[in-house]
Amino acid sequence: MTKQPAKLETRFTEQVGIEVPLICGAMYPCSNLELIAAASEAGGIGIIQPISLMFVHGHDLREGIREIRKLTDKPIGFNALVEQSSQVYEDRMKKWVDIAIEEGVRFFITALGSPDWVVKKVHAVGGVVYHDVTTLKWAKRAIEGGVDGLICVNKRAGGHAGEESPQKLLADLKALGVPLICAGGIGDEAQFIEALEMGYDGVQMGTRFIATTECSAHIDYKHAILEAEADDIVLTEKISGIPVAVIQTEYVKKVGTHASWLAKKLLQHPKGKHYMRGYYTLKSLWQLKSASTKGMNYKDYFQAGKSVDGITKIESVADIVSRFADAVRAKAPVSAEAEDDVEADATTE
Ligand SMILES: Cc1cc2nc3c(=O)[nH]c(=O)nc-3n(C[C@H](O)[C@H](O)[C@H](O)COP(=O)(O)O)c2cc1C
Repeated sequence: MTKQPAKLETRFTEQVGIEVPLICGAMYPCSNLELIAAASEAGGIGIIQPISLMFVHGHDLREGIREIRKLTDKPIGFNALVEQSSQVYEDRMKKWVDIAIEEGVRFFITALGSPDWVVKKVHAVGGVVYHDVTTLKWAKRAIEGGVDGLICVNKRAGGHAGEESPQKLLADLKALGVPLICAGGIGDEAQFIEALEMGYDGVQMGTRFIATTECSAHIDYKHAILEAEADDIVLTEKISGIPVAVIQTEYVKKVGTHASWLAKKLLQHPKGKHYMRGYYTLKSLWQLKSASTKGMNYKDYFQAGKSVDGITKIESVADIVSRFADAVRAKAPVSAEAEDDVEADATTE
């Protein structure tokens, strides 16, 4: 794969109107409003996870967006999980997307189902929609649905991890012609630069932003991220029925990582699938909220990706974003004009 110079201005920053091609990804239950605002204020973009904002952090959605607005006037994004298994959930998500649009949000990241209805609403107000994908098949579907870019979730990611390496995903999706964001496995500035040099238009990080002063997750969770290495990250089916990346704590070792025989059977059944997902959704929302707020004393599922390797201290979001941006600037190739100026200066001396 040929290397491209890493640049801060990309198709993505241009579309969304930000300075640094860095997304603080939506995280249930870790996306508190201070974290989202800090990422945007620092020059990247923070993404609202509506269920986290309302159910974990106790805000009314509209009031929460207005609170974020008091902390930053820069662009913010909104995560719409467009899973279609329940009409009640779908209707709610439609209302939430309307509220976000009314409150001025113009960048949306859709995931799980078909993004078409979000694209329609968001394009009508001049906004931009990116869709989470793990393979070419889903990427093609999302493009047919009219999305403007793709979040390429690779196998190193936290949350619901993908199946492919960042290199393979990029090679598969490049020809689709839309901006591509690398999600998964990025924890330090060297990895950020590497993703941009590969040809990605930006990076989405989750785990790195949990270990920050602005994230309100329990201190035990942050320390678990600092102490973990990539090999400590395992995929468990126990939380949602589909593999989720977590730190292998004593609790995870004890209960194992496979869904039960009955759960698997139900997940394969056309109707059982929906009930089982519903069950897992409720159970996982509760369990993940408890782990994030109560710490090690609870049954701890600490979601994190293999990016834990590059994360060594708790920092402010502003420090992380500026360090990443500075590293790209320091590596930027000298333009031909600047090179001429340097040569001219040298000959006149
Ligand atoms: C704790 C946690 C919760 C997450 N929750 C969501 C979510 O609710 N919606 C979503 O689209 N992605 C979610 N993700 C994925 C992130 O937005 C991001 O793509 C991913 O964390 C990138 O990988 P990294 O953790 O290695 O940086 C979550 C990730 C983590 C670590």
